[in-house]
Amino acid sequence: MKVFLIGVDGQLGTDIEKCFTAKGIEVHGLIGLKEIDICDYDDSFIKITSSGPDLVINTAAFHNVDLCEDEVEQTFKVNVGGVKNIAGICREMGIPLMNFSTDYVFDGSKDTPYFEDDCPGPLSIYAISRLGGERVVQYMLDKYYLIRLSGLYGHAGCTGKGNMNFIETMLKFAESKREIKVVDDQILTPTSTVDVAEKLAELIMTGKYGLYHMTNTGSCSWYEFACEIFKLMDIKVDVIPVSTGEFGARAIRPGYSVLDNVNLRKAGIRDMDEWKKALRHYLEERK
Ligand SMILES: NC(=O)c1ccc[n+]([C@@H]2O[C@H](COP(=O)([O-])OP(=O)(O)OC[C@H]3O[C@@H](n4cnc5c(N)ncnc54)[C@H](OP(=O)(O)O)[C@@H]3O)[C@@H](O)[C@H]2O)c1
Repeated sequence: MKVFLIGVDGQLGTDIEKCFTAKGIEVHGLIGLKEIDICDYDDSFIKITSSGPDLVINTAAFHNVDLCEDEVEQTFKVNVGGVKNIAGICREMGIPLMNFSTDYVFDGSKDTPYFEDDCPGPLSIYAISRLGGERVVQYMLDKYYLIRLSGLYGHAGCTGKGNMNFIETMLKFAESKREIKVVDDQILTPTSTVDVAEKLAELIMTGKYGLYHMTNTGSCSWYEFACEIFKLMDIKVDVIPVSTGEFGARAIRPGYSVLDNVNLRKAGIRDMDEWKKALRHYLEERK
């Protein structure tokens, strides 16, 4: 199988390339905007068709959640328009597309994990645009993998967020601050890109298309996540729990966005590791 990977330099793209290549899956990866812009249909068409892949994986997104509130046009241009371009090219070629989405498509009114077929209720421009991207893929293609992720972290860092992730941000803060304020009323599942890449490789071998939640297991608040990072790194710092309101981020986020990976289990794929175990692996590899 040959995969055309958009965003090979990104946080998730880096681990997809590493994992797929190790499993003998051929990957033709293009770096984000330096090599391909999904908003340019004609150029993307030439690059994808000339590569002749069996599957396109698009990790590209405009996903600085707070910035999206101010840059609405750009958010929809990339997360809906860009996805429409790539889905159109896949349709022309008769090949499947794998695209990503987010736990933020839900409004957090549940207090038990969300299933794939729960009704979305996006609360921010970012979340609306990602749901728009999902709908475009579902409307345009019969064969797709739509993957909703949550609280992603990987060694490459998120290029859309200054090559950082939550773990690296916390560790950097700890170098200069004695007190770190972290939100304690948003519950999610932090998720490792290494673990996601492994499951994606398994999933594409099944050929079972559809919408999937894909996260590590268990759940915590951002505050609990931060405390666990400092505990495992043996760093003494005061972590202060604050409410979302006190923290005052620009975009509204769901208070609860834990995803049940039901469809993965139905596809015969085992649950991912518990989030604390995945975090330990990340920190060990970091050393
Ligand atoms: N990070 C999270 O917590 C999280 C949570 C849920 C879902 N997700 C989703 O998971 C996917 C992977 O996330 P990630 O953390 O790996 O992101 P990332 O590190 O920001 O990587 C995204 C890649 O897409 C490229 N890109 C951005 N705009 C593009 C465009 N218009 N055309 C072509 N390439 C473009 C970037 O290139 P440049 O460096 O040139 O911009 C980069 O290579 C994304 O869809 C993201 O929204 C992430």
